[in-house]
Amino acid sequence: MENGHTKVKVGVIGVGVMGALHARDVYESDLTKLVAVCDIDEARAQIIGELYDAKVYFDYSKMLAEAEVDGVIVATPHYDHTPISIAALKKGIHVLTEKPIAVHVNDAQKMIAAYEKALEQYPELVFSAMFQQRTYGFWQKIKALLDDGELGRLLRTTWIITDWYRTQSYYDGGGWRATWQGEGGGVLLNQCPHNIDLYQWFVGMPQRVSGFAALGKYHNIEVEDEVTAVFEHDNGMVGHFITTTAESPGTNRLEIVGENGKLVFEDGKLTFYRNRYSALEQIKHASGAYDKVENWVIDVPYTHHGEPGHRFVIENFARAIANEKALIAPAVEGLHSIMLANAILYSALTRQQVSLPLDGDAYEVKLRELIENSDFQKPVHAPRSGDEEMGKSF
Ligand SMILES: NC(=O)c1ccc[n+]([C@@H]2O[C@H](COP(=O)([O-])OP(=O)(O)OC[C@H]3O[C@@H](n4cnc5c(N)ncnc54)[C@H](O)[C@@H]3O)[C@@H](O)[C@H]2O)c1
Repeated sequence: MENGHTKVKVGVIGVGVMGALHARDVYESDLTKLVAVCDIDEARAQIIGELYDAKVYFDYSKMLAEAEVDGVIVATPHYDHTPISIAALKKGIHVLTEKPIAVHVNDAQKMIAAYEKALEQYPELVFSAMFQQRTYGFWQKIKALLDDGELGRLLRTTWIITDWYRTQSYYDGGGWRATWQGEGGGVLLNQCPHNIDLYQWFVGMPQRVSGFAALGKYHNIEVEDEVTAVFEHDNGMVGHFITTTAESPGTNRLEIVGENGKLVFEDGKLTFYRNRYSALEQIKHASGAYDKVENWVIDVPYTHHGEPGHRFVIENFARAIANEKALIAPAVEGLHSIMLANAILYSALTRQQVSLPLDGDAYEVKLRELIENSDFQKPVHAPRSGDEEMGKSF
């Protein structure tokens, strides 16, 4: 590594829109060396391999068997994250998998079980997930304020995250996208894993989930493109999660309310409405019927790197392999966002509230039904959305 250690040798599996950027980041970093790339699209693999001077494979098993890699980054469509990660972990190869770590809870649990088993033989094995938004300064500041207990007892968290706008052209641009068979979900599985991961990172997992979802309401797709969920936490906090890929202009507004005040993040501005007294104590002790709590409006400073952030997660992966740093996003934590996404969808499809932990078998049966009953004909007008579109893709 940079301080005289050897670079971590990395292979990238799936070099489409995202994987090609990971290959570039691995190639350019002082901490990593790109030794191999793999894609079932042979022309694609060749182009990226030549561009970054890496050995080219068309079959990940062959790459795992032959390429001398310390770690791999898995950037294929989601379903394949599971078998590829498991195959690598079994060989003692470190894994950084794209989000979502899997399509459904059972697959995520298989990956975690394989990791735990592999740890017996390779105790230093690293299993990380690409939740690069955890590196963003504003999210880190919110996390720190919550962890420090600034808000006191939490009452409500509401996230309106409707600025994931996508056109029909986006959905038509990849054969696997927005189908039950190819992707296993829509906005919850592709665009929102970051937000759902952050939700549970900030305030923990709820115990009950009620979901409302519309399938292909605004786009010619078979999966969900509009979702509203209500989360109930045993500590009394209630959560709301509202998303869609159809609103333009969309909104990204997070409100976290506690007895000591309210944090609001919107348009890059983090505001803390700080109560002089606990609102819950005021309810009990105020003499006047309408006495509100005095609050001070604080513009909370934070520093943010301003980059997409994938590079930092890759370098963190390399440092974790070298035993120099803890992981920003252990893949094991990726189970939480999948469980929430699956639970929202399951609740919406069955019109019932779902208790967590979700019954993974029941969800898998439901997903299989959706796949088997699908008669959706996917219009595909282009092999993939262009790399230049990447900036909008996360
Ligand atoms: N973290 C982020 O910000 C972010 C952003 C975009 C995409 N992603 C994730 O990255 C993954 C890929 O998304 P994308 O937009 O790059 O898709 P893509 O379709 O552009 O690329 C996927 C690539 O994987 C290849 N592939 C498919 N099956 C394979 C296999 N078994 N072995 C090797 N290669 C295989 C395809 O040929 C394709 O080139 C998804 O899981 C997505 O959620 C993450």
